[in-house]
Amino acid sequence: MISCEQIRKVVLAGSGVMGISFAQIFARNGYEVTLYDIAEEALARAQAQLRPGLETQAEQGMFAAKEIDEILGRIQTTTDKGCFADADFVLEAIVERMDIKHSFWSEVSALVRPDAILATNTSGLSVTEIAQAVKDPSRFAGMHWVNPPHLVPLVEVIAGEKSDEQTVNEIFALAEKIHQKPVRVFKDPTGFILNRLQYAVIREACHCVQEGYASVEDVDNVMKYGLGMRYACIGPFETMDLGNLGTFYHVSSYMMDSLCNDGGVPALIQQMHDEGKLGVVNGAGFYDYSGDKAAEAVKRRDTLFLQLAKILFADKKEQ
Ligand SMILES: NC(=O)c1ccc[n+]([C@@H]2O[C@H](COP(=O)([O-])OP(=O)(O)OC[C@H]3O[C@@H](n4cnc5c(N)ncnc54)[C@H](O)[C@@H]3O)[C@@H](O)[C@H]2O)c1
Repeated sequence: MISCEQIRKVVLAGSGVMGISFAQIFARNGYEVTLYDIAEEALARAQAQLRPGLETQAEQGMFAAKEIDEILGRIQTTTDKGCFADADFVLEAIVERMDIKHSFWSEVSALVRPDAILATNTSGLSVTEIAQAVKDPSRFAGMHWVNPPHLVPLVEVIAGEKSDEQTVNEIFALAEKIHQKPVRVFKDPTGFILNRLQYAVIREACHCVQEGYASVEDVDNVMKYGLGMRYACIGPFETMDLGNLGTFYHVSSYMMDSLCNDGGVPALIQQMHDEGKLGVVNGAGFYDYSGDKAAEAVKRRDTLFLQLAKILFADKKEQ
């Protein structure tokens, strides 16, 4: 198998939300990038979005604006599967459906060189199950990024049942090389780690509102001005250490049994879904997004993310 240091040509399969962002990240880190998609329209969208995306990052000081043409020069787009033949690393970010991922990987894993490293950006499908379609699943693993990947450092590197340890190590090293923050995930759990934590929070947030403990807005405020601020800086285990584990022991003894333990979709999410209130996409969700409010909400989020990402990326580089 090729080592992380030998990787030069990266093929990104799926030119959607994630693929377009990956192209910018790999190209700005000096890799020769091919963005592959079955749909010409998706590649045309990428062509339209790459420069503005890089300009925004340059404005935020991630690199000099004069480097943009050089970065763009390292990105090719294609619908031709011939691109896989000389790939050193393939990262798949196509539609999140097991049948489609299976047919993609059974074809592509037969086209790549035997020493190429292969990864899927699935959000939560089983890496082990996707790997059933991969010829030589030992060089295949999960590489789960968080949207938007150029602002959120985390990458979960997931070992499938048949992933070779070296595969996981090389993908981990690659993520570090491109200045992301990788973590290793074993046993391929549903939702990996990030989504397990996220959905535990969402279930309890819905429960608190459904039980009338607090309003939607105040549950969000508890997260933004309390827990969320803390967790941007220290994790749950550091929190316990810093706060005295004895206290967390005592609180656990009466707290855990009172938490929501329901399976299935929370009633609040079901109700919103049934009423067609999907959020910014259609102007109404837990909050009102009519008129300019949707654009304002997205802008506010992106501005705060950018400010926070600068601090977190800087902190990560010092470590
Ligand atoms: N969007 C997110 O927030 C996010 C975050 C983490 C992981 N992911 C995962 O990344 C993957 C892609 O998500 P996205 O949001 O970028 O999707 P998207 O819908 O924006 O893009 C998917 C692209 O894949 C293309 N495609 C479909 N079938 C293909 C095939 N057989 N070969 C090549 N291209 C094909 C489509 O034409 C489309 O351009 C999914 O597995 C998703 O779960 C997404």
